[in-house]
Amino acid sequence: MSHPELVVRKAVWKGEEVDLLVADGKILEVVPSSDTMYEGAEVIAARGLLLMPSLTDVHTHLREPGFEYKESIASGLKAAVHGGFSNIMCMANTAPVNDNSVVTDEMLAKAKQAYPAGGPRLFPIGALTKKLEGKELAPMHELAEAGCMAFSNDGVPVKSSELFRRAMEYASDTGRPVIDHCEDPYLEPAAGVNEGEVSSLLGLAGQPDVAEAAQVARDLLFAEYLDMHVHLAHISCRKSVDLIAWAKKRGVKVTAETCPHYLLLTEDAVRGYGTDTKVNPPLRTTDDVEALLAGIKDGTIDMFATDHAPHAAHEKEVEFMVAPCGISGLDTALPLTWSLVASGKLTFDDFIRMWTTAPCKTFKLPLNRFIPGDPADFFLFDPNEEWILTAESMHSKGKNTPFMGQTLKGRVISHFLSGKKIV
Ligand code: DOR
Repeated sequence: MSHPELVVRKAVWKGEEVDLLVADGKILEVVPSSDTMYEGAEVIAARGLLLMPSLTDVHTHLREPGFEYKESIASGLKAAVHGGFSNIMCMANTAPVNDNSVVTDEMLAKAKQAYPAGGPRLFPIGALTKKLEGKELAPMHELAEAGCMAFSNDGVPVKSSELFRRAMEYASDTGRPVIDHCEDPYLEPAAGVNEGEVSSLLGLAGQPDVAEAAQVARDLLFAEYLDMHVHLAHISCRKSVDLIAWAKKRGVKVTAETCPHYLLLTEDAVRGYGTDTKVNPPLRTTDDVEALLAGIKDGTIDMFATDHAPHAAHEKEVEFMVAPCGISGLDTALPLTWSLVASGKLTFDDFIRMWTTAPCKTFKLPLNRFIPGDPADFFLFDPNEEWILTAESMHSKGKNTPFMGQTLKGRVISHFLSGKKIV
């Protein structure tokens, strides 16, 4: 056995007190905790803290290039590491759109510039169509070679089923999946509020859950017909969960994500016209929340993602109808989803699968299972520390969150990437 350079002492991993040994940026071993001396090793005392593998977020908007006033790659990655994340995938709805390798290269260069000695890993998602216009396919081979791990038209779903089919075929040729934001473009797109009792009371045009589910159905049928993988973004409603479960039973190659806000909030949160509750797809009903939780438990929903969508204060401080959709999520995702474990709605194993194994396996990203040789990407977590979410406590430039002012429980105490302390 090579000699550990770093030893994390007496941390709790899966209910056991352990020592974690790290060498060359990799996991050497996780052993029952003892008082063994490891000469020359840096020792981190971690008694009482949980040892966690770093999380992966497959759906963020880091806004650079073009919208650095909302977020930059540096500020987004900073929020990510403080929030427990090591791998971040970022969407292509930048300006210019990430539809060619020059933009991808620039994104990767900015990440390197933010953390020259190594830091959170950025994996851009390439555009599915040029300028996200849904007219012409983007050069996916060029984008894949530059480092894009998947392709998506992001918040502007492809209207033409024919083009979407061709996009799936072309993407599959690169070995990278298509991520689809499922939203029928004719049923109140980006309304930001569910069609139902609350939208009627508020006098707002709402988006029905059918708008999501109809597109989910189309994508599932194509995935089966073409025998190709499709990943469905931010699933928000029961109808979609039912359709995905149906497809999975038939052996369709589909994976799906949902976000913390769809599990912790309902359309009721929109009653005060608060624009920080305006998100696309919109917050749904209690019945939808139940279906999503059940879908996580039975494996229909594979993974969490934040859909981190930072916006500037002046953009959200307008009438509900004109405000942009989006919730800033990287700072809060960990305590919010941990609250579901603490309340017994999800298990620790669900949590680990949803934030680490499933996203990393789906998108072929570095994964720490605490097995020898895995990247030493981990953080120490105090599940009992309570803190109040304020604009100042957030590392993201986007302070647009409906959880603002709330007391959250659970905090990253320190975070190590490839064995190096980064927080
Ligand atoms: O609420 C959202 N905001 N949903 C999306 O799909 C896009 C995102 C954004 O880019 O702001």
